[in-house]
Amino acid sequence: MTGAGVSAESGIPTFRDKDGTWSKVDPMWFASPEGFAAQPADVTAWYDDRRRKCLDCAPNAAHHALAEIERRLADLGGTFTLLTQNVDRLHHRAGSRNVVELHGSLHVWRCTKTGEERDDLPCPLPEHPMPSPAGGLYRPGVVWFGEMLPEDALRASYEALATCDIVMSIGTSAVVYPAASFVEVAMERGAVGIEINKDATPITDRVDHAIPGAAATIVPELVRLAW
Ligand code: OAD
Repeated sequence: MTGAGVSAESGIPTFRDKDGTWSKVDPMWFASPEGFAAQPADVTAWYDDRRRKCLDCAPNAAHHALAEIERRLADLGGTFTLLTQNVDRLHHRAGSRNVVELHGSLHVWRCTKTGEERDDLPCPLPEHPMPSPAGGLYRPGVVWFGEMLPEDALRASYEALATCDIVMSIGTSAVVYPAASFVEVAMERGAVGIEINKDATPITDRVDHAIPGAAATIVPELVRLAW
């Protein structure tokens, strides 16, 4: 499971980073259905700008190493599921295939009328807000405060957690539920728990191995040591 810390070294500020993207707006407002309903132009423009900034960033060594783990495990007949809270799609761009996006994606826009999703709209969008053909607006395809996580993503997550031998939490503050509980769900049934984070989190004392450090350094090192 990955969080914003994995993309930090690609130049994408983490959610709780004081100088980050979120410091300039009130996240409870911009990342909420109410904020979009009241200020659709501003919210659309802000997310469109975040999308452009993500496209300007490249996957880092942590993203590449996670894609490498997936490839190597596949060669051995194993499986690897990447549960991510990140909305930047850098894991996909690094070559990861089995990715579960728990919080949606900045690259997806969803029609407020029909629920139709598009991930091929131009960047930047021609209009803010962006009308949909059905007469609605395209809203960002991310999970906002007060919204449910996508059902299929949750199902895929719990399936992986129910069968995995190893569960890793990488670059996430482990405070946002349900992702915060994922490591313990797998550990309770015997999976080995590993955390990689620059700082201590609520799960640091509970995992089997807490490895302090930057994801882009530690994850490639793990691959090197494991193979
Ligand atoms: P946070 O910003 O809460 O936490 C980032 C974590 O990454 C922290 O624990 C940092 O210590 C760690 N970190 C920072 N740089 C790192 C690095 N180079 N290497 C390793 N670790 C590093 O981000 P998330 O935990 O991903 O949800 O936040 C989860 C969700 O909180 C976000 O997706 C957002 C928010 O609610 C929504 O927008 C729905």
